[in-house]
Amino acid sequence: MNLTLKIWRQAGPDAKGSMETYPVSDISPDMSFLEMIDVLNDQLVRDGKDPVAFDHDCREGICGMCSMYINGEAHGPGRGVTTCQLHMRSFSDGETIYIEPWRAAAFPIIKDLVTDRGAFDRIIQAGGYVSVNTSGNTQDANALPIPKDNADKAFDAATCIGCGACVATCKNSSAMLFTSAKVSQLALLPQGEPEAARRVQRMVAQMDEEGFGNCTNTGACEVECPKGISLENIARMNREFLKAQFTSEK
Ligand code: SF4
Ligand code: FES
Repeated sequence: MNLTLKIWRQAGPDAKGSMETYPVSDISPDMSFLEMIDVLNDQLVRDGKDPVAFDHDCREGICGMCSMYINGEAHGPGRGVTTCQLHMRSFSDGETIYIEPWRAAAFPIIKDLVTDRGAFDRIIQAGGYVSVNTSGNTQDANALPIPKDNADKAFDAATCIGCGACVATCKNSSAMLFTSAKVSQLALLPQGEPEAARRVQRMVAQMDEEGFGNCTNTGACEVECPKGISLENIARMNREFLKAQFTSEK
């Protein structure tokens, strides 16, 4: 396949960026999208030019690093897949492909397609954990009976990989889908109960502090989420937040 790539290039956080054009040829339809960028970068390095900076790690859909807009869609045209799982057979020979970084004030651009998603880490640090008694009397998790429905919903919420596609897709740059998945995975389990009120209040406060927008129920986040995280989690987080207002725990 021969393609024309239009890629956002930006030398640094404060530099002025622009779309640059790069032709690539002999691309196999079986290559992943990231392998296609590897081919371009190999070509750029051989020509003595600066390769395109992009995030990647696992290349198998589990780390959430490979975040970029492809033809205006978070993670490209596929549904339920990350950029690293997207194959070039999803495009046509001769096509022009537009590649851009996430666009959200809370995810500032570091270089080219790489954004700083530390805001997500800080939301987790604010409360996305359970405190465990390690005194030697730790209870075996398997000793706690959990209703199957709750276990399944908690597991589904826990599949969020923190990629940020929900934020990038949302017209308000809202992080509600991400935060609600992280709140839900613990709120649904007995292990999460003791700190539930404090957790949701702190995580929501941190989310607001980071500059993410609010949810207006558009639902674009759920459509573009590579892990199919449900909007149901946002409703659960709102309920948890309301419930927490009636406790003294902060
Ligand atoms: S909710 Fe979905 S889109 Fe948002 S960070 Fe998690 S996996 Fe990515
Ligand atoms: S590189 Fe890990 S999800 Fe794509």
